[in-house]
Amino acid sequence: MFVLWSELFSAVSHLCDHYISGTPKMSRHQNGEEYRNPTEVKKSQIVMPCHANHRQELSVGELLKWMDSTACLSAERHAGCPCVTVSVDDIHFEHTIGVGQVVNIKAKVNRAFNTSMEVGIVVSCEDLFSDTHWSVCRAVATFVSQRTTGGKVQLRPLVPCTQAEQVEHSLAAERRRMRLVHADIMKDLLANRAFQQGQSLNCNGAVPAERTRVESVELVLPTHANHQVNTFGGQIMAWMENVATIAASRLCNAHPTLQSIDMFHFRGPSHVGDRLVLKAIVNNAFKNSMEVGVCAEAYQGEEPLRHINSAFMTFEIRDQEGKPCTLPRIRPEPLGMRRYQEAIARNKIRLDRKYIISCKQTEVPLSVPWDLSNQVYLSYNNVSALKMLAARNNWLLNSEKNKVSLYTLEQKQVLSFKVETEVDIPAERAFMLLSDLSKRVEWDPNYERCELILRVNDDDFLYRVVTPSISQDGASNSPSADQGGKVQDFILLASRRPPCDSGDPYVIALRSVTLPTHPPTEGYNRGEVLCAGFSILEVSKDISKISYFNQASPEVLPYISTDIAGLSSSFYGIFCTCNTFLQENRVDHTSTPHKTDLGPGTFFCGCE
Ligand code: COA
Ligand code: ADP
Repeated sequence: MFVLWSELFSAVSHLCDHYISGTPKMSRHQNGEEYRNPTEVKKSQIVMPCHANHRQELSVGELLKWMDSTACLSAERHAGCPCVTVSVDDIHFEHTIGVGQVVNIKAKVNRAFNTSMEVGIVVSCEDLFSDTHWSVCRAVATFVSQRTTGGKVQLRPLVPCTQAEQVEHSLAAERRRMRLVHADIMKDLLANRAFQQGQSLNCNGAVPAERTRVESVELVLPTHANHQVNTFGGQIMAWMENVATIAASRLCNAHPTLQSIDMFHFRGPSHVGDRLVLKAIVNNAFKNSMEVGVCAEAYQGEEPLRHINSAFMTFEIRDQEGKPCTLPRIRPEPLGMRRYQEAIARNKIRLDRKYIISCKQTEVPLSVPWDLSNQVYLSYNNVSALKMLAARNNWLLNSEKNKVSLYTLEQKQVLSFKVETEVDIPAERAFMLLSDLSKRVEWDPNYERCELILRVNDDDFLYRVVTPSISQDGASNSPSADQGGKVQDFILLASRRPPCDSGDPYVIALRSVTLPTHPPTEGYNRGEVLCAGFSILEVSKDISKISYFNQASPEVLPYISTDIAGLSSSFYGIFCTCNTFLQENRVDHTSTPHKTDLGPGTFFCGCE
């Protein structure tokens, strides 16, 4: 599971730009002063020849050091104590930076959890002569407050102030969830045989992998460490990038360009006096890109090696015009076949991730094919889309009946609606009842049938939902009463998330996916849902605020259009039946806890 965090980050950039870019759209205080996040830290640096590579471009290692130190200062600003880097999520470099240009780095804490914080980093480049600015990369790092003799240092919560901060705060919980399962999910994916059959091994004219092998040792000096004698994470990343670049150059005797880095995870600390052994090799070469794996281990004296970090970097070789060159094939070492195969799997995962996550929310294809390699991104995309929709602050009240409110929102020609009310039920119970989509047929007349196709994991489920056809006047027709119009079916991914912290809502997100096992069938119009679902907020122990959202695709619009036009209040009727359903099931009469309905460990919450 590789998440191109820079891309996840940019998916919300339209919301966050006014905060992050620091340019004209900044929020203002009531007193007219520009709002500035108290954890924000900025760094500007002119790129000098000593920071550059042979092409007079800023070395990525140098940039990683600057990014890490800026982010660390932001984390420490919030924590009020020394912090160390735990991980840096995937980074995709959009542009190189030349000597004489200025690098501007901004970092701010998105969210504080218990002892760790997520810090968002934005890097841009400025050309002083033409006064132009462009984005170089975005990254997301996690820092942890350094343990003291008294143990772990608990962080105070960070309260988001602007809408953009609220979105980042909410999405940070989702990113954290993915980060913490990253290693396990990768292991499962790589173990899956389906990934082992991507590329046939043709060794004719191939470069032997051992030719690219690099090993290099570094002595950690005080200049490489912070005031707590811990080696700077950025310094280790820079050393890793250095050996990876040498390995990449050896594949084709040319200077490579680093495209992206998969997640860095610092498994254990390193200190002044450590010897760091850095090893790299090209794991596989594809048409225009290669994967270099790099591993950092530390030792002191006779101690055994400690594994500090492993990372995978993607390089390409560019010609004079900047176009990527075709790369030679690689012949893996006899013991390197596993890494060769795993590099193919990771490459497929990266492509999937790019497809799903790099699109802006409104451009994501409605039905993305669901498969093992993209399930984590689809799930992230599902939840983050709903969270972003819910966070919009320009919902307009369309109508209200007995405290059930219908809101609408227009964004770039996409109409969304929200139905909201308070219900006399504990939030957790409402979440349990509403997240089991197969129960929706009991209260929603628009759900004629709902079958569970696959339980992906404890939090994600695939369903097939059949809805009645809708006549022009918005009345639903059952299949038998249907006159000409076909009934519709939807293949939905349902992703459920309990709150990460008090104050967070329970979330049930729905979006369409396609499944080769469930193609459209005769007699059914295959409908698509871009983004829908529930947000359930605990108002008090027994009262919940339930909001239902739907980004209305053409297939969904007819179900609500008469409500929006003020011609009916069927939304109210549906919420009444939903309320009755919730009240009737308010108490769990089953002997086993309800969560076993959907499987053990259903309440995974990344924040415990
Ligand atoms: N990505 C992001 N955060 C992670 C993580 C990962 N891969 N693994 C653990 N964490 C977070 C946990 O969520 C937890 O956060 P929380 O307290 O807010 O819930 C925090 O790190 C501590 O986790 P915990 O389980 O208590 O400890 P651990 O045994 O996993 O150790 C470190 C975590 C950070 C102490 C340990 O990995 C370490 O010392 N790493 C090296 C850090 C360092 O020195 N970096 C500088 C460069 S060497
Ligand atoms: P894995 O073996 O599962 O890939 P490791 O953490 O052992 O994970 O290594 C990460 C990457 O570092 C490897 O994929 C490989 O590219 C590189 N690497 C590891 N060990 C060596 C080594 N002895 N020589 C060269 N490169 C190495």
